Amino acid sequence: MLTPDFPLRTERLDLRPFQPSDLADLHAYFADPAVHRYLYSEAPTDLDGSRAVLVRRQERTALRAKGDVIQLAAVDRRTGRLVGDVVLIWTSPEHRQGEIGYLLHPDHRGHGYATEAAAAMLALGFDQLDLHRITGRLDARNTASARVLERLGMRREAHLRENEFVKGEWADEVIYAQLAWEWRARRTAGEPGAPGRVDRTGAPIET
Ligand SMILES: CC(C)(COP(=O)(O)OP(=O)(O)OC[C@H]1O[C@@H](n2cnc3c(N)ncnc32)[C@H](O)[C@@H]1OP(=O)(O)O)[C@@H](O)C(=O)NCCC(=O)NCCS
Repeated sequence: MLTPDFPLRTERLDLRPFQPSDLADLHAYFADPAVHRYLYSEAPTDLDGSRAVLVRRQERTALRAKGDVIQLAAVDRRTGRLVGDVVLIWTSPEHRQGEIGYLLHPDHRGHGYATEAAAAMLALGFDQLDLHRITGRLDARNTASARVLERLGMRREAHLRENEFVKGEWADEVIYAQLAWEWRARRTAGEPGAPGRVDRTGAPIET
């Protein structure tokens, strides 16, 4: 079970629960169909649709059981602007597995905010929930998302060919993952990437 203290602070961001005053900012990016191009979701067609999305996000603040979600607003501390959101899903308490996801307002891409926020979700999952493995899943055409996971040092574990029929077409799915010991070893080494350069005890691997 995980009921974190908010906000979570990263170098540039406050990650905090969504609140009613976020409606206009959430609508500004979530109602953009281009944002959903490689997602299962569809853009809401009006403000009421975004309000319903916001209400669901406001409730996602703790992990108590399988399938629960923490979904946080990522706010640039310098400007106070909502730049996007980030998510941690407790996919399996039994196997200590989780999944991360992220979404940015198009105006706020290209600054590393998704990577920074997702790194905080990995820390939450591994350090506070004691997860063993965290995954990231994406449409294989979503190269910007793949780069986020690679910057986090996650391993590309699988490329599933046409395993899902999404928005009228067969789509490939790619799965990335990181294990707790990989996360800790990378952090000890002070490197954001380079999984595989240490073994599961954290000892360096000779090459
Ligand atoms: C996926 C998504 C969040 C990626 O956004 P992004 O801005 O590329 O990701 P980041 O915020 O981590 O920024 C990384 C980019 O900023 C650059 N950058 C600039 N300053 C940086 C910094 N301080 N730290 C890290 N990267 C920085 C990086 O070089 C990188 O650019 P590149 O990929 O061209 O090399 C965005 O495309 C999106 O919201 N897509 C729609 C929703 C979606 O598909 N979500 C994923 C579902 S699986």
